[in-house]
Amino acid sequence: MSKQTDNPLYEGKAKILYPGSEVGTIRQYFKDDATAFNAQKRDIISGKGILNNLISSHLFPAIGQMGIAHHFIEKLNDREQLVKAVDIVPVEVIIRNVAAGSICKRLGLTEGESLPHTLVEFCLKDDSLGDPVISSEHVYAMKLATRNELDETIELSLRVNDFLTGLFFGIGIRLIDFKLEFGRLQTEAGSQIVLADELSPDNCRLWDSKTNEKLDKDRFRHDLGSLIEGYSEIARRLGLVIPSLN
Ligand code: TMP
Ligand code: ASP
Repeated sequence: MSKQTDNPLYEGKAKILYPGSEVGTIRQYFKDDATAFNAQKRDIISGKGILNNLISSHLFPAIGQMGIAHHFIEKLNDREQLVKAVDIVPVEVIIRNVAAGSICKRLGLTEGESLPHTLVEFCLKDDSLGDPVISSEHVYAMKLATRNELDETIELSLRVNDFLTGLFFGIGIRLIDFKLEFGRLQTEAGSQIVLADELSPDNCRLWDSKTNEKLDKDRFRHDLGSLIEGYSEIARRLGLVIPSLN
């Protein structure tokens, strides 16, 4: 693996991006770093990157089969995947089916309360500001995305939600909420909005359907038990073969 040899294009909290083998491609390297509360809490959890790469490399092609455009090309090895180079839209899309996390604090809702309908929220992707919640009006005023682009991200996000909710339901897991990022892919026909980043238990809340046990990154955020055990359980239920995590 080339983590030490190539110059990164970008290093985030959980991933490093390197130039891909061909023009227009990027190698996405999954780190073991875990952060929460805008990196106020941090740790290195051996094997986390391998599990996120495994799970994300399984979910992206599945979503692609539903006709949802995305950046994923192929899994290269335990820690890396090849993706299409896109310009990331600096708006994080949060989809919520059940109240949990920050919405409970902000609006006084009770964790586990079903929402009357799926909620779509936007956050400005800016760590220095703590990724604040913004409205669509802010998106347009700050020219973060056009109206057409935002409409497209909402439609794609709701389709991803429908698909993933069913997929996880089938393996005894409730999809409580999740965060998506989108990118602009330049094609001959022009700019296209595609799903980017990752789909993993770092970015989703996933509770066991029977016990409500949290299998996602809340285990790390709130010291609820081994993160690796939770992520491994998700991978196993998805039918994935877990490689050595060292
Ligand atoms: P929240 O309840 O903390 O706002 O999180 C909502 C969802 O978004 C949850 O599934 C975790 C995910 N998320 C991220 O992927 N990255 C982040 O930086 C935050 C704050 C949340
Ligand atoms: N990923 C975010 C951070 O480190 C927050 C989170 O996932 O809770 O800061």
